[in-house]
Amino acid sequence: MGSEHLIYPLFIHEAEADEAIASMPGQSRLGPDGVMATVERAVTLGIGAVVLFPAIEEKLKTPRGEECSNPEGLVPRTIAAIKEAHPDLTVVTDVALDPYSSDGHDGIVSPDGLILNDETVEVLCEQALCHAHAGADIIAPSDMMDGRIGAIRDALDEAYFSEVSLMAYTAKYASSFYGPFRDALDSAPKSGDKKTYQMDPANAREAIRELELDEQEGADIVMVKPAGPYLDVIRRVREHTTLPVAAYQVSGEYAMMKAAFERGWLDERAVVMESLLGIRRAGADVILTYFALDVARWLRAG
Ligand code: PBG
Repeated sequence: MGSEHLIYPLFIHEAEADEAIASMPGQSRLGPDGVMATVERAVTLGIGAVVLFPAIEEKLKTPRGEECSNPEGLVPRTIAAIKEAHPDLTVVTDVALDPYSSDGHDGIVSPDGLILNDETVEVLCEQALCHAHAGADIIAPSDMMDGRIGAIRDALDEAYFSEVSLMAYTAKYASSFYGPFRDALDSAPKSGDKKTYQMDPANAREAIRELELDEQEGADIVMVKPAGPYLDVIRRVREHTTLPVAAYQVSGEYAMMKAAFERGWLDERAVVMESLLGIRRAGADVILTYFALDVARWLRAG
């Protein structure tokens, strides 16, 4: 494994100062200086890409998440700053409404509590275009609405952004391992859960159906998430596609391991490397992991 196979997720916020995330020791919500310093380290260590997740101020959250496509918003400003300083670093952006939604869902919620798939997809297309205009290299829709890969692909192509790639969250499970991430962004659903649009953890074959749809709709990279508890799904997806496969070692996987390292119960370097080796062995080409900087440092130290 090399550091070029790693994608480092960054949490960003409006405030100047960085703010530690309690349930993700070692990770912070980064202010503008923190982002640039962290990106600089990632580039120096040979990390291939970063993915941005914004913590949006409560006063900017609305039922339809309009802030998600504000060209002056936190994400487009951060993309532009990173690309200006490091044109060769791949910048991936998250497309979904949860950071912007006053309901804390990835889609627009109807008055009777249903997620409005098609209305949401229209908004996601605007969000994707906003990121592309700012200079994003890869758009990664994590929302799990039906038909969004094809719709975003068409919207990008029509706006002459055919060189912007799509990394589809192809098999994103309704997992309990996302808890620390939702703390980090303060984005937990206000009511209900995400089971109507994320996948049932008991279901492996559905991943292949989602894969076929994402391929037809024009995905460039397909992702499985979480990673560690879903190695069989990574393997199945690997065997059914010639596209690059990504896996997301999520916040809960990180938090569990960190908690054990802090107590001295497990050896950090050996366990992290083994966890990533398992994900690579299952068939992932690239891994999104909060350990990316540590791993790149260890690989360099040899
Ligand atoms: C939401 C999103 C989530 C994660 C990435 N994008 C959480 C969710 O679906 O509620 C989780 C990542 C992690 O836990 O590290 N669009």
